[in-house]
Amino acid sequence: MAFTNQHFQFLCLTLVLISGLWATQSLARPLDHHKASSLRERHELWMARHGRVYKDEIEKENRFNIFKKNVELIENFNANASSNKLYTLGTNAFTDITTKEFVATHTGYKKRSDSTFGGPVTTRFRFENLTDADITPSMDWREYGAVTGIKYQGQCGCCWAFSVVAAVEGLNLIKTRQLISLSEEQLVDCVQGNNGCEGGEMKTAFEYIENNQGISTEDDYPYTASNGMPSQCLVKSSMVTINGYESIPPNDEGALMKAVSQQPVSVGIDGSGDEFMYYKSGVFQGECGNDITHAVTAIGYGTDTNGIDYWLLKNSWGESWGENGYMRIIRGQNKCGLTLDASYPV
Ligand SMILES: *[C@@H]1O[C@H](CO)[C@@H](O)[C@H](O)[C@H]1NC(C)=O
Ligand SMILES: *[C@@H]1O[C@H](CO)[C@@H](O)[C@H](O)[C@H]1NC(C)=O
Repeated sequence: MAFTNQHFQFLCLTLVLISGLWATQSLARPLDHHKASSLRERHELWMARHGRVYKDEIEKENRFNIFKKNVELIENFNANASSNKLYTLGTNAFTDITTKEFVATHTGYKKRSDSTFGGPVTTRFRFENLTDADITPSMDWREYGAVTGIKYQGQCGCCWAFSVVAAVEGLNLIKTRQLISLSEEQLVDCVQGNNGCEGGEMKTAFEYIENNQGISTEDDYPYTASNGMPSQCLVKSSMVTINGYESIPPNDEGALMKAVSQQPVSVGIDGSGDEFMYYKSGVFQGECGNDITHAVTAIGYGTDTNGIDYWLLKNSWGESWGENGYMRIIRGQNKCGLTLDASYPV
């Protein structure tokens, strides 16, 4: 059979169709591929930055998928102009774990079964009679040198110890003009009423410091992010003592402001949401509830350039979280239950 012109045309058309199809695919593929590889590249960079090592390729793949999901959540949130946000989210050292894993390992607020929390509370506290004229309209205890650097609780549910230590460090500076980093580990190991890395509350720790006649320095009793043996609970030196603690009436941000104007205050908070976990900057107004899961230290308050009132909180999740480890959170809404268990050493 002769190779006719028609055959030739058919062949050409077929070739055009095939190459056209191939071209479409090769256009589509590099784009998807590019996106995936840049996320993979970002995961590699993120691993290097946060010193993350996985035991094998399977774990790495699982962690990459969580990382990818979290990056998408963060970027969708930040790109969504319709929500008129006053805060942003961002990646941090926890971007390859799920919120559930994070809350299970990095919070740790737990009420004692015999706790009076939620029960009758006294409304008496030493700052109750301060008036607006007595208190400064904004406060940042860092400016008074009353706040040690941001610490990291690691995978140990002892937020309560960090919350209490920051409040005692602040009071100690105010009373003695010395800023001394104090020992969370001593509280984790020695506070009988709490459960070390398995959770606890602040009151129990304040009572321990009062009854133990003090708390050691961080240097003398360094942090290990794990429960020490009871035998390790040999307090080397008692550096800082307190006479007790007081609680602030719940649901009263005016009362909390009176106290924070005078010294840093331990506060319980709901820190269990995605947006809380990925908070990066601005005045946080994201979703959270009133079930307290976490504890931080209120070290100030103020009003931002948009006229939004906020609380300034010191967290124990390292410097990669929030504004170099700190959060500004909206004030005037009892946001995330932050007035429900607030107390300070005296
Ligand atoms: C953007 O934000 C609005 C308001 O918060 C929300 O209703 C909407 O679902 C968001 N859209 C996306 C794509 O996340
Ligand atoms: C605050 O004022 C009331 C009424 O004068 C008084 O009973 C109370 O003891 C005062 N509180 C403190 C802490 O001084």
